[in-house]
Amino acid sequence: MILVTGGAGFIGANFVLEWLRSCDEPIVNADKLTYAGNLRTLQSLEHDSRHVFARVDICDRQALDALFAVHRPRAVLHFAAESHVDRSIHGPGEFLQTNVVGTFTLLDAARAYWNELPAAQKESFRFLHVSTDEVFGSLQSADPAFNERTPYAPNSPYSASKAASDHFVRAYHHTYGLPTLTTNCSNNYGPYQFPEKLIPLSITHALAGKQLPVYGDGKNMRDWLYVGDHCSALRTVVERGVPGETYNIGGWNEKANIDVVHTLCDVLDELRPTASGASYRKQIEFVKDRPGHDRRYAIDATRIGSELGWRPAETFDTGLRKTIQWYLNNTAWVEGVTSGDYRNWIDMQYGHSR
Ligand code: NAD
Ligand code: DAU
Repeated sequence: MILVTGGAGFIGANFVLEWLRSCDEPIVNADKLTYAGNLRTLQSLEHDSRHVFARVDICDRQALDALFAVHRPRAVLHFAAESHVDRSIHGPGEFLQTNVVGTFTLLDAARAYWNELPAAQKESFRFLHVSTDEVFGSLQSADPAFNERTPYAPNSPYSASKAASDHFVRAYHHTYGLPTLTTNCSNNYGPYQFPEKLIPLSITHALAGKQLPVYGDGKNMRDWLYVGDHCSALRTVVERGVPGETYNIGGWNEKANIDVVHTLCDVLDELRPTASGASYRKQIEFVKDRPGHDRRYAIDATRIGSELGWRPAETFDTGLRKTIQWYLNNTAWVEGVTSGDYRNWIDMQYGHSR
């Protein structure tokens, strides 16, 4: 059995669904179910005994000890986090709590469990920490992409909390020998992403006839990876990664935000033309910039390719088209997750009239 944290969120749930589609090894899924965690995403597993859901806060040491004792996992994949940069600007405390204290608590519970394992299981145990490229800070236009030796320079409360968690993971390997792996991935998109992030927010706003808010001049660059490709990379790292190492994961898809939103509008124009025949591009509005907005992220994913043989399967065009089609086919999921809390966030972030 493997233990997944945050498996009711966007990437964690995609990972759980894909894992159980491709093998029968059971998963215990520990998730606090914050606004970002949603059991609707896992509805297809409701009667599947291979999936055990536990509503657990990763800051709760007793609950974690009980999970390790009962389920005896061979590996931990740690997704649980507060993940939205804009929310971290409005309320950094929760990010420190979950991302730093929570990761520390999980690491320490894992170490206590791992220490008592028989030698062979101790040797093969893995703790995979899912992290982000944002820990490396912001690139200038001519800088080379982030690689595994790029120094850390986090700029937002979110990235600072993820950087701190990465350092704890590193320290637990160096000090105690816990067989850890860390991955630093670029921007993900795909099915089941909460519509506060750029791509799902733009799709859902476009279809609702609302503004498509683009921060600043729209020229900030992000490196996009389809979520299914991130999941396949994580499977590769947990099976073949070298303990103590870090792996950058990215899709070689660097794009300016405005180009992402333009492409998204063009695909929607084709798949779901507006009643008036006007392009969705007409809904784009440049809005006030994010404070401290990182200009550019880019991932050099050479290492995971050459050492572990992983490659992304989707291009940005194929992945984006799949994603848009998924949102068109799954309006009930979107309605289900866009509760009062979501509407309060949108009102606070973009103003009441949107
Ligand atoms: P998400 O916000 O969609 O999901 C986070 C999940 O963690 C939710 O299910 C939530 O309920 C759960 N959670 C939050 N606090 C918790 C706590 N204290 N205890 C237990 N569960 C808790 O996030 P995501 O986009 O799926 O990201 C997953 C991981 O991948 C995060 O660690 C994030 O930093 C990292 N990451 C995300 C991206 C991206 O583009 N989304 C890219 C690189 C890395
Ligand atoms: O790089 C990996 C990171 O990618 C992950 O670690 C984070 O968890 C994930 O949220 C994501 O962070 P970003 O801040 O890059 O993602 P977001 O979707 O919030 O924004 C993408 C870009 O689009 C960014 O430059 C800000 C811009 N943006 C975002 C929103 C929500 C807009 O222009 N308008 C918007 O309304």
